[in-house]
Amino acid sequence: MPGAVIVGTQWGDEGKGRFTDYLAKDASLCVRYQGGHNAGHTIIVDGEVFKLQLVPSGVLYPHVVPVIGNGVVVDPAVLISELDMLSAKGVEVSRLRLSGNAHLIMPYHQEIDRVTERYLGKNKLGTTKRGIGPTYADKALRVGLRVQDLLDPKIFREKLDLVLREKNGLLSKVYNRLPMDANEIAKTYLDMVPRLEPHIDDTVHLVHESLDAGEWVLFEGAQATYLDLDHGTYPFVTSSNPIAGGVCTGAGVGPLAIQRVVGVVKAYTTRVGSGPFPSELLEGDPIGDDLVERGREFGTNTGRRRRPGWLDLVMLKHATRLNTCTELAITKLDVLSPLKELKVCVGYLGDDGTRYEHVPYHQSVMHKIKPIYETLPGWGTDIERAEKISDLPTEAKDYVQFIEDFTKVHVSFVSVGPSRDQLVVLPRGE
Ligand code: GDP
Ligand code: IMO
Ligand code: MG
Repeated sequence: MPGAVIVGTQWGDEGKGRFTDYLAKDASLCVRYQGGHNAGHTIIVDGEVFKLQLVPSGVLYPHVVPVIGNGVVVDPAVLISELDMLSAKGVEVSRLRLSGNAHLIMPYHQEIDRVTERYLGKNKLGTTKRGIGPTYADKALRVGLRVQDLLDPKIFREKLDLVLREKNGLLSKVYNRLPMDANEIAKTYLDMVPRLEPHIDDTVHLVHESLDAGEWVLFEGAQATYLDLDHGTYPFVTSSNPIAGGVCTGAGVGPLAIQRVVGVVKAYTTRVGSGPFPSELLEGDPIGDDLVERGREFGTNTGRRRRPGWLDLVMLKHATRLNTCTELAITKLDVLSPLKELKVCVGYLGDDGTRYEHVPYHQSVMHKIKPIYETLPGWGTDIERAEKISDLPTEAKDYVQFIEDFTKVHVSFVSVGPSRDQLVVLPRGE
């Protein structure tokens, strides 16, 4: 049963979309299993830029069926506008399948996301304000509305009335906001049904039909390991499980359906929003500014400047365990080209002098640790046109080798530019 997972090993924006696009050429299904339109996946094909938030990146191949699994949270208006955007670019989208069990992001979820962030003040999480956390919270509370509810207007309305009573109490009494109108919400959502209905399906069944037929099913992670609700830097995380294990619940397969787990790792680190970041290059550091500028590190989704930092190998090694990575894909190696020296974090020092070889589990320790760096030589020459490993300068090959030796996980791919073809494939043993 050949299932393959693409998973982010850092704090997101590693380049999962471009690797999903690359690996989808051999797949029959490309499945999103968690998250929502908090994701922003950029793919560049023949100079054309595609920015996807909800639709799986495999959509660009006519032979791939893109699937939005049960674990995803869906804002239907965003989905429709993304489908329209793709159609306008000549991409055929009728194949898209949408799980009837996926939960709907409702207007009150987005409003609650916005007001709770405002109330947290300087303690805010820096969410994307897409309503992700409140939607998953309602799923866990068992008061969520699902895609399938759209197919029964009476049930949809009953569930909406029930939940809106509580949400309006919260919005008006706690947050001093205007209550929302059930008629208006119901009309907006039910008016979208004719556009959505042709896509709604039993996606678990589809995934298993493909696996049983021996076809590759690609599971596309959004967000990343350290944004995982259970394993990330809680509470500065998202509200789903991006780790490879999330595929099991978010797409409806057992662990043995997964043969391949590709951990995507940026050659340095970035993070959007609040939370600890041991190897961060603080604002004003010229190397950090250079990484942001050269790497165009501004959110695909919210336009926010991403916080830059050196590659953290301790976190990467832990991520390879959490995901059981069978291989790694390194992105944006080209962004490091001008740097004379490169630092990689290989351990941490606590404020009491304790040395940590692992990611500390305790938040108070995690917030205070200082990185211990090893310095590696840079290569100082452009690598954007490298097609095979022998085209890379020795120092670039050594950087990749250092990552492989530290994590003990094979590096299968190195990307040297954002385009589909700016990719070096490394067979095992090279
Ligand atoms: P994702 O969320 O993990 O899919 O990543 P994003 O698309 O949010 O961010 C990655 C950004 O880096 C996008 O703008 C990509 O076009 C770009 N990118 C991906 N791989 C490379 C690479 O190897 N080199 C450079 N320079 N840019 C890349
Ligand atoms: P992709 O798939 C980077 C971050 C937000 C915030 C935290 C919680 O493009 O890698 P949320 O809106 O999910 O409740 O916000 O998670 N975040 C991301 N950061 N890439 C993403 O997605 C992200 N999705 C959420 O910035 O810190
Ligand atoms: Mg992104």
